[in-house]
Amino acid sequence: MPGLAIVGAQWGDEGKGKVTDLLAERADAIVRFQGGNNAGHTIVRNGEEFKFHLIPSGILYPDKACVIGNGVVLDPRILLGEIEGLRRRGVDVGNLKISANAHLIMPYHVLLDTAGEVKLGKLSIGTTRRGIGPCYADKALRLGIRVQDLLDEKILRTKIRAALEPKQQALRELSVQRRKLRKEAGEGDREAVEQAIEDAPDPRLDLHTMTEEHVNYGHRLEPHIADTARLCWDVLDAGRTVIFEGAQATLLDLDHGTYPFVTSSNPIAGAATVGAGVSPSDIDEVWGVAKAYATRVGAGPFPTELEDEVGRHMLEKGHEYGTTTGRERRCGWMDLVALRYAVRLNGMTSLAITKLDVLSGLDPLRVAVRYRSREGALLDRFPYHQSILHSASAEYEELPGFDAELDECRKESDLPKEARDYLDFVSDFVGVPIRLVGVGPARDQVVWRD
Ligand code: IMP
Repeated sequence: MPGLAIVGAQWGDEGKGKVTDLLAERADAIVRFQGGNNAGHTIVRNGEEFKFHLIPSGILYPDKACVIGNGVVLDPRILLGEIEGLRRRGVDVGNLKISANAHLIMPYHVLLDTAGEVKLGKLSIGTTRRGIGPCYADKALRLGIRVQDLLDEKILRTKIRAALEPKQQALRELSVQRRKLRKEAGEGDREAVEQAIEDAPDPRLDLHTMTEEHVNYGHRLEPHIADTARLCWDVLDAGRTVIFEGAQATLLDLDHGTYPFVTSSNPIAGAATVGAGVSPSDIDEVWGVAKAYATRVGAGPFPTELEDEVGRHMLEKGHEYGTTTGRERRCGWMDLVALRYAVRLNGMTSLAITKLDVLSGLDPLRVAVRYRSREGALLDRFPYHQSILHSASAEYEELPGFDAELDECRKESDLPKEARDYLDFVSDFVGVPIRLVGVGPARDQVVWRD
């Protein structure tokens, strides 16, 4: 291995946490390189369920460095909550290392994210409202506050003042419109607005209070703050393995996903170099993780979406509700046009297919093998033009389904022939071997393939 990137191959929620957890057995360090607490992964270990939003999956191994890289945007309040939660459950968090260069999600980012979405109305992205977009925007504007700033009160205050100043107008408007906003918002939105207001109780976002609060966060996080790029180099230079764990997924990539219905960072493998501080030649293997079907949360094109009883089957049997927001996920057939695009974009060397068990009871199975544009043209490749993608419909290959439940399968020969044929079809179509197959949520509910 030594450098191995694990990325989402669809629209997120593919089960990257479990795959990372399994591959981490062979690694010395696990690094998250982008995103923030918009992500969510669940790991089941010895019957105990762990849910993380920010902390990399590797935290359950006390002997491995578990790193939040410089490319991550970090809400210190949320991170401290996760650290506390793990400590209470007896998990040693001593090996958690946080890049001094990672940017902080500040209370005004959360407010601006929510306000932006409410303002967009029907055109909203469906963000997780965790402040991700506004935080990355400040980073690009060079108005960001970084983890290292927490350690110097004077610098921190100066930087918060500078960051707040250009937002005064929007924030003033926000405070004036608070009541109006709440009234205008629909049920779901109202809940999010109230949550955001609770997260930042003072809509004027008092500079003094915010500075004090963050100095306190700094004291608590200080033992974890490190030069994480150097940490990665040391592990790699010693010939040992580093896993670069992506959050979100390829089709949510800011540059290569279904813009503007994307997240504000780059979840593809190439971004691991920037978000962790390593070179392209440090990445030897890229694992893509895809569900045996497809899901998406939030708005945006989804050519294989099903709004029938098959989609319902996937939602119910696959428990397709967001870990972060609890939203119902949109469900549909596996899209091999999009998957082949993700394979090429990431340079995938292996695939892990998760939740194959969810397909049992469906016959026939379908996979999208091309799109048809509104004008009737057949498209073998993922269209780069938004309007074409938005109006494209999927054309399918039908494969025989299977009825047997897969949760007890542990070897390839345990899988029904139809399930094996399904995997072979996917693998042949995208040209990448499927090395791991998920057949249930528990850690041991996997089938390894040669
Ligand atoms: P943001 O990342 O909160 O700005 O949201 C932008 C888009 O990415 C929305 O459609 C979200 O639903 C989606 N998104 C963000 N994080 C995740 C994730 O971890 N899984 C799936 N979708 C996500």
